[in-house]
Amino acid sequence: NASKKIHKSDFLVIGSGIAGLSFALKTAQNFKDATITIITKNEKNECNTKYAQGGISTVWDKTVDSFEQHIEDTLLAGDGICDEKIVKMVVEEAPERLQELIDWGTKFDKTTNGNYSLGREGGHSQDRILHHKDITGAEIERALIEKVEKAENITFLTYHYAIDLITEHQVKKQQTKRQEKITCYGAYVLDEKKSIVKTFSAKVTMLATGGNGQVYSTTTNPVIATGDGIAMAYRAKAEISDMEFIQFHPTALFNPGEYPAFLISEAVRGEGAILRDYYGERFMKKYDDREELASRDIVARAIDNELKKSGTPHVYLDCTHLDYKAFKKHFPNITEKCMSLGIDVRKDYIPVSPAQHYICGGVNINKKGKTSLKNLYASGEVTRSGLHGANRLASNSLLEGLVFSNNAYENLKKRFHKIKEPINVPVWNDSGVVKNMEKILITHDRNEVKTIMSNYVGIVRSNERLLRAERRLRVLYEDNKRLYDHSELSTDLCELRNLITTAYLITQFSKNRKENRGGFYSADLV
Ligand code: FAD
Ligand code: SIN
Repeated sequence: NASKKIHKSDFLVIGSGIAGLSFALKTAQNFKDATITIITKNEKNECNTKYAQGGISTVWDKTVDSFEQHIEDTLLAGDGICDEKIVKMVVEEAPERLQELIDWGTKFDKTTNGNYSLGREGGHSQDRILHHKDITGAEIERALIEKVEKAENITFLTYHYAIDLITEHQVKKQQTKRQEKITCYGAYVLDEKKSIVKTFSAKVTMLATGGNGQVYSTTTNPVIATGDGIAMAYRAKAEISDMEFIQFHPTALFNPGEYPAFLISEAVRGEGAILRDYYGERFMKKYDDREELASRDIVARAIDNELKKSGTPHVYLDCTHLDYKAFKKHFPNITEKCMSLGIDVRKDYIPVSPAQHYICGGVNINKKGKTSLKNLYASGEVTRSGLHGANRLASNSLLEGLVFSNNAYENLKKRFHKIKEPINVPVWNDSGVVKNMEKILITHDRNEVKTIMSNYVGIVRSNERLLRAERRLRVLYEDNKRLYDHSELSTDLCELRNLITTAYLITQFSKNRKENRGGFYSADLV
């Protein structure tokens, strides 16, 4: 039951996290006559951005910090494979983008003397994290959504799920003989409330769909993080890279049964919290001179090693020596969460263990936010921009979304007037579809993907584990293909397809990596 209508706009933005909303806002403010449609698959603010705790890194106070130091910290965390020009560009642009975010209404915490309060996280040599208590992301989403809702040329559609990008593959008549690049003409979108597939055509498509933490059993990512954008771009033949670099956050709250895992921000260690093993002993000194504030890949692997050696389910984060009043002021959400579970941070250690948190790889973009497909831009966690290399420096992710969305907008200021409206875009074809699928099969397969990835493609991998994952994912791929080709479409089914695709990509990229770096570690390469 596809709709025959074509929904046209100048800009189609897929996703309403920091990357999608900031792009839409800039574009709406500056292309006054243009039409902008944002589609998002859940509520307006349901995204990874909403859960961001620590904050956004930027060199704010040049009397104590410098661009050079932020660049160096980013390069060091990225373990040798960041794109240095991109790192420099992002770091130097950060203060301007942060000021814009503030001008749009985001409130960051201040100290009593009226200056912004700057937090510290792992891998940073200075205090440089602007934050709103320990709920920075929720505050950013609040401010951006309020602003977007006031823009008259933006249409904001919730529960609209992008299934696939539209390219020459579907629009055959637009293909010229000497076509250099595949072009993107919009997306096919499932209107979840009406259960119809709509066709959205656009001169420019911005992919801002975030990451894919849901491929793992334990993740800090909300359930929307199913890698849809990476998988859609892959099917449309866009270039993808660095998928093997998965970031595991060292300190998710250990609370069996809670899903996704609640994060205990790295900023807590930035304030002086200490890691202790199950028996109360400190251990980080054995692994890195920076101890608790080494970069995330190092701390997560250290904890993983301690857990494997001792056979215990978690380690502890000790905040008992910290000033409680100051702690509660900076981390009210974490304090309250712990208290709700009977953990009083004044006297109890917090049980923590690592959880999947972020994907450094994704859809390749250049410094203008352009993908390898014409008129398809991308920004945020869905991308591989060269900023993070093999391991992202804490609090550089929100920043990346802001900077590349702005760069995409800047680039479009120069070329938008030359882009022609797509013609001959065919509406979605749903012939041959039956309705008799058992939904439980999707649930089984989704759980299976998570188990495979957590067991075989986790913090420490090996050739044997990767081969196992590959074989099992292939079976799931075949089963899903049969379901997908013949069943009525649903978000669950499409998400499963994308989870399998991105899990497979992580596994393949891992198999191809021949040295340990950053977030990739194989026991066979030591
Ligand atoms: P998201 O914010 O994830 O937005 C993606 C959007 O795309 C969502 O609206 C989603 O619904 C939509 N979408 C996805 N697929 C589809 C589809 N098929 N159709 C339609 N819509 C779709 N980073 C920092 O820099 N600092 C931090 O302090 C920090 N803390 C974090 C804490 C937690 C618990 C987590 C999970 C992450 C944290 N991160 C942090 C990472 C950071 O939050 C994310 O990398 C960043 O928010 C990604 O922004 P984004 O706009 O690219 O994607
Ligand atoms: C955190 O608050 O620990 C998360 C920061 C990040 O992911 O950059």
